[in-house]
Amino acid sequence: MKQLTFLLISLVLLLTFTMCQQPNGNDQDEVAQKIDSLIDLMTLEEKIGQLTLYTSDMDQTGAFIRKEYESDIKQGKVGAIFNAYGADYTRRLQEMAVNNSRLRIPLLFGYDVIHGHRTIFPVPLAEAASWNLEAIENSARVAAEEASAEGLHWTFAPMADIARDPRWGRIVEGAGEDPYLGALIAAARVKGFQGDDLADLNTLAACVKHFAAYGASQAGRDYHSVDMSELMLREVYLPPYKAAVEAGAATAMTSFNDLNGVPATSNHFLLTELLRDEWGFEGFVVTDYTSIMELLYHGVAADTAHAAELSLKAGVDMDMQAGIFQQSLTKLVSEKRIQETIIDQAVSRILKIKFELGLFDDPYRYSYKEREKNNIMRPDQLEAARDMARKSIVLLRNEKNTLPISNEVKTIALIGPMGSNQRDLFGSWSAAGDWTKAVSLAQGLKSRFPDTKIIVEEGCSIEGNDKSGFRAAEKAAKQADFVILALGEAYWMSGEAASRSELSLPGVQQELAELIIETGKPVASVIMSGRPLTINWLAENSPALIQAWFLGTQSGNALADILSGDYNPSAKLPVTFPRNVGQIPIYYSMKNTGRPFDENNKYTSKYLDVSNEPLYPFGFGLSYTSFHYDKLTLSQQSYKMNDSIQVSVEVSNTGRVAGEEIVQLYVRDPVASMTRPVRELKAFDRIWLEPGSSKIIKFRLHPNQLGFYVSGKKYITEPGKFSIFVGGNSNASLETGFDLK
Ligand code: BGC
Repeated sequence: MKQLTFLLISLVLLLTFTMCQQPNGNDQDEVAQKIDSLIDLMTLEEKIGQLTLYTSDMDQTGAFIRKEYESDIKQGKVGAIFNAYGADYTRRLQEMAVNNSRLRIPLLFGYDVIHGHRTIFPVPLAEAASWNLEAIENSARVAAEEASAEGLHWTFAPMADIARDPRWGRIVEGAGEDPYLGALIAAARVKGFQGDDLADLNTLAACVKHFAAYGASQAGRDYHSVDMSELMLREVYLPPYKAAVEAGAATAMTSFNDLNGVPATSNHFLLTELLRDEWGFEGFVVTDYTSIMELLYHGVAADTAHAAELSLKAGVDMDMQAGIFQQSLTKLVSEKRIQETIIDQAVSRILKIKFELGLFDDPYRYSYKEREKNNIMRPDQLEAARDMARKSIVLLRNEKNTLPISNEVKTIALIGPMGSNQRDLFGSWSAAGDWTKAVSLAQGLKSRFPDTKIIVEEGCSIEGNDKSGFRAAEKAAKQADFVILALGEAYWMSGEAASRSELSLPGVQQELAELIIETGKPVASVIMSGRPLTINWLAENSPALIQAWFLGTQSGNALADILSGDYNPSAKLPVTFPRNVGQIPIYYSMKNTGRPFDENNKYTSKYLDVSNEPLYPFGFGLSYTSFHYDKLTLSQQSYKMNDSIQVSVEVSNTGRVAGEEIVQLYVRDPVASMTRPVRELKAFDRIWLEPGSSKIIKFRLHPNQLGFYVSGKKYITEPGKFSIFVGGNSNASLETGFDLK
């Protein structure tokens, strides 16, 4: 009997593998059949194994796998491992699974490849400031090339959480506040990671996260509750996740928060009704970290078995790190609290991705030393990171053309804790990046200005009260013809579990800035941070001001490109900058209210102590040249529901250097059956203009882009008047309008 079973298993496996090797063997039905036959062979324990994801660890001696996980891997009780990378290491773990487990099912290796793997690109929020979808897609492409060459199959990205609260540290991981821009960027990232075919060796399976509405955590406090109307959810928070699903994201991750009283990890509405039934998602759903276990703390599960039951029934397929499926599912099946078929379904979704990645073809195909050697930090990858970085830098102020730094400058003083800093340049999540390989601003300046004297003075550290370096910093400033103040947050001050209730520059950096600017020297302040900071004083007093975010490996070179004028800044803020924390949440697409702001009327919607205006609006960013907008024209004055609405505008470069402008189109529906935002971004374009030249930019809108949700998934476009605004930021004043009949 035993022999017969063995023969049968071998036959099915042989068939499975050979079918995979056929050129067009990945035909959907064929794969489904292979999966079914494999599932038929699996014990319940082996099935649960496929639903289990465990971490690899790291100590002084390097990467290692816990003894208990090693034994589980050998017994086929683990389907996937995360935080393990490197051709040799992943090969070793894969051998553990393939050479020991009964069914030889390969492991899936996942990792947080968020903005680069070895070559670290700008943090996602910074990349979003480029509004450059091709560059963002390419950034994900390079990350996938590097990571897949180190044995990885799967990245926990993109993060598609809309964030309108900069107190929330994870704002750094997303694309900012806007659903339209956020959706395009989420899709671009999925395409970049996954390429055209998951079977290609240089791709990664993407994981859209954190589903859903994690970015709306109350008061910006991480992991906090979210309570919002379904209309708001559908209109603002869901579009980026949906776009990632439509772009083919292979997997999705639940979020830690509860949404309207139901934790995301046990939320049937989110994980099944929306994601699968409405959007047709066919990949698998993984929990975020130990979020199944957290159902106990949320207070919806009485014990771990209950938590497992709730999450599996809601639509979770894979348990990250909690080990609760492993502990509880057998019991739940035997008690008939869950049916084995639901487990089979989850297994089948997971195996499908393993098939698509070609792991049944060759479980080691991503773990080759040779590929690893040739695909990491190549000059072209470093160049792509530099280009992405300079496209992400936002020029916020440039009084009297303080920047770019003129070639006449003999001495530059580089002052502040970020000047020769390398440690903080990667920001949150740095995968396998080595910060000692990051180009600091000091290094970037030295290679760009080899004949200029560059005095570097830290002045103070990022945190703390020590002002003992102030005197030397002041002296350096006085000796220089130009001063760069390099200020900001430490890398760990944004990201997960890094919410802040104050958003000013940490420590005594502001005081240092005041002292240096007081010298009257031309000063450019460069802010490195993972979120908008309340930099009002600098916005008024620093002759030039740059938002540099965290730019990754090529930080210093990219900043030198901008500061020297070799590259003309073009980035625009993907998120509103508040004046103070009290204004938060602040975003451009707010509602008008019944008492819109009126300076002369106390009883209108405003504060007593701060204006309603942000420090910098969404979409804002300057260039070394200037752009003029004119001749905003519509193809007709009135349109029918099936018409295409054609908008054109003339943009001219009125300055002295060539530059790129991001032309933005906003719409307002002034009268509707429900209150509508005062503006919504509906289109944008990037154009390059030589000085003195003009271009006509054309946009096409379809009336179905002008609608809104009225209840549940019911979305309508109402006839009536619409206003269009076009310009270089969300305060664009050029306006026209049309009737929709
Ligand atoms: C984070 C996820 C991440 C996961 C795995 C969690 O703590 O919330 O974004 O993908 O860890 O590292």
